[in-house]
Amino acid sequence: MFEALTPVSDMLTRNLDILSRQPLLVCGLLEDGLPGLLAEAGPAPRVFTTDFRYFQWQQAQGLADIEFGTSPAPGTAAGLLLLMPKAKAEAEYLLAACLPLLAAGAPVFIAGDNKGGVKSAPKLLAPYCEQVNKLDSARRASLYQAELTTLPAPFGLADWVSRYPLEEEQLQICALPGVFSAAHLDSGSRLLLKTITSLKGRVLDFGCGAGVIGASLLKRNADMTLECIDINALALEASRTTLAENRLDAKVYPSDGLSQVSGKFNHIITNPPFHAGLKTFYHTTETLLSSAADYLLPGGSLILVANAFLPYPELIEKSFGHCETLAATGKFKIYRARR
Ligand SMILES: C[S@@+](CC[C@H](N)C(=O)[O-])C[C@H]1O[C@@H](n2cnc3c(N)ncnc32)[C@H](O)[C@@H]1O
Repeated sequence: MFEALTPVSDMLTRNLDILSRQPLLVCGLLEDGLPGLLAEAGPAPRVFTTDFRYFQWQQAQGLADIEFGTSPAPGTAAGLLLLMPKAKAEAEYLLAACLPLLAAGAPVFIAGDNKGGVKSAPKLLAPYCEQVNKLDSARRASLYQAELTTLPAPFGLADWVSRYPLEEEQLQICALPGVFSAAHLDSGSRLLLKTITSLKGRVLDFGCGAGVIGASLLKRNADMTLECIDINALALEASRTTLAENRLDAKVYPSDGLSQVSGKFNHIITNPPFHAGLKTFYHTTETLLSSAADYLLPGGSLILVANAFLPYPELIEKSFGHCETLAATGKFKIYRARR
């Protein structure tokens, strides 16, 4: 899945002499074996990722110095390479989390796809660097370089938590940059929460994001225990914060699909990952639909919301032998299948 070199990394291979002069802290949109290329060209980088799937893949490759979490562990780094993430707010967050590891004068690089917001690199670096230069541009990707001149304040995760109220539920939903639906309840999730009001037993919130589905159900249902999984460290932390601030208790842990889940559930509930054009997201949901029955107790159910146009009913029928449509709007449908 991460085998092919992205156009951004391809462009970076032309700049390995500069990039590998010092051991870099590398973070952001990591989607290939770039850390290995850097390690071949010079000192091995330290890699920090918020993506559990990438973390597991790099660990399997034997890359020792990779961390998964919300911010890199304290320490020092001789320079930073930020691969521009999809959301600008996430780039700001990653700079704030990683730059405190650098000393004044250390090099800071930002690389990314021209269509992915890399052009905002000078603006993003303005609070930290006096001058930002464009070092290279090829294959629709660009590389910017700067020198750290203004030492950043120590990083505090709490400063990055945003909140919105869910009035009907009397809940406060907490999110972090880049987390799905960070500023308001997604309309698909809203329909799911309107359709499914009571659940009992062991429940899994698959792809929990800011924890809105799990926290809402837990608040309404005393006879329920909750587990929340996501691939993204910032989503997991947002869910933990949402649960804690609303005095709710659940087990929250990273998992790529159902890979880290053990035992069987009474219900698996989800607004699953989707993104037109990104094959991996369909793959995650397709795998969930075909394997969920193995993770359900007899009589247990898989309940999901999906865009009405997605071909999920056929996949659910193939795996469960049936698929109920519990609710439908022009845009979304709620499906349920029982084991
Ligand atoms: C559509 S969002 C739903 C978030 C939240 N449940 C809500 O309703 O607002 C899907 C979530 O799935 C997560 N996700 C993506 N790929 C995943 C995977 N392979 N395994 C687990 N979670 C994944 C994303 O990080 C995202 O938080």
